[in-house]
Amino acid sequence: RGLDDLAKRAGLLYFGTAIDNPFSSPKAVDPKYQEIARNSHEFGQVTPANGQKWMYIEPERNVFNYTYGDAIIKPAKKNGQMRRCHNLLWHSQLPDWLTSKNYTKPELLSIMENHIKHEASYYKNECYAWDVVNEAFNEDGTLREDLWLWTIGPDYMEYAFKFARKYAGHGTKLYYNDYNIERIQNKSTAVVNLVKTFRKKGVPIDGVGLQAHFTTGSTPSYEDQLANINRFNSLGVEVALTELDVRVSLPDSPEKQAQQAKDYAASVKACKDAKNCVGVTVWDFWDPVSWVPGVFAGKGNACLWAEDFTKKPAYYAVADALRN
Ligand code: G3I
Repeated sequence: RGLDDLAKRAGLLYFGTAIDNPFSSPKAVDPKYQEIARNSHEFGQVTPANGQKWMYIEPERNVFNYTYGDAIIKPAKKNGQMRRCHNLLWHSQLPDWLTSKNYTKPELLSIMENHIKHEASYYKNECYAWDVVNEAFNEDGTLREDLWLWTIGPDYMEYAFKFARKYAGHGTKLYYNDYNIERIQNKSTAVVNLVKTFRKKGVPIDGVGLQAHFTTGSTPSYEDQLANINRFNSLGVEVALTELDVRVSLPDSPEKQAQQAKDYAASVKACKDAKNCVGVTVWDFWDPVSWVPGVFAGKGNACLWAEDFTKKPAYYAVADALRN
């Protein structure tokens, strides 16, 4: 049995992975990588790591190109794998035309609506969920200073979620997605407050994505993750672990791999045991295509499959966590 088979037996909707387009990650053409990515016993859901982001979808104003998103979404559908769609609004990976000019608030709102209208309509009924807004908070729980906040103001997320509902319809779950919100701390409490505000104002939101980009040995405990997930569930929103990976300081060692295995298992078990955590997505499954070494010098080996395609102790620990 693969990880998705085990996840479904444990009552989750899926075990999934982000996968990347060969255009952005040349090693992703490896046939063995492609074979595992498309194995629906391992991964019942896939998420495009880059292809649905604004800079690729709307590279020129009002010019839409779905090539890179489709390259991930279409084969997944054919394989019977669910899709999480990522993302509609973020401060990063925006096209130059959008960041190099100062727009007025009405202009930027109409740009936002037009983008969400096209992309969410195009992928209507194709996505289990949309990450509507990605990474809007600072570590202290204040809103990130980005063009959306500067130009539109603190209620910009309300617009984004309303537009998403309008164009994605009711069949797609609308998520807020962020990192460092996997335990109870200022940033996760800010997201709790966001959900409460949305509820009070009638702004649609269905889920919160906990990215779960972790470092071996300093991952939040099982208990802390469970308490945090249950806090969101108590507000009536579902939760998913959306980008799980656990990086190690290189060089790797058997001891580090053993710790990494425990860290992966704690997260997967917390999701499994929580009131309403629907599934786990790893942010790619094979070390050579992981985003980690490109961003954190000296860190890597964050995935479940090693470079030679052997399954690491972490893979077996995840399987056990799903089994028990
Ligand atoms: O577009 C160019 C392409 O033309 C060029 O050939 C290629 C060569 O390296 O670079 C391409 O841009 C890169 C892009 O990925 C597409 O490959 C960027 O330099 C690179 O910074 C970018 O990294 C992505 C990162 O988001 C950007 O912040 C990662 O692949 C992607 O895995 C990562 O994903 C994010 C989630 O969306 C949100 N949460 C955190 C997560 C990890 O950073």
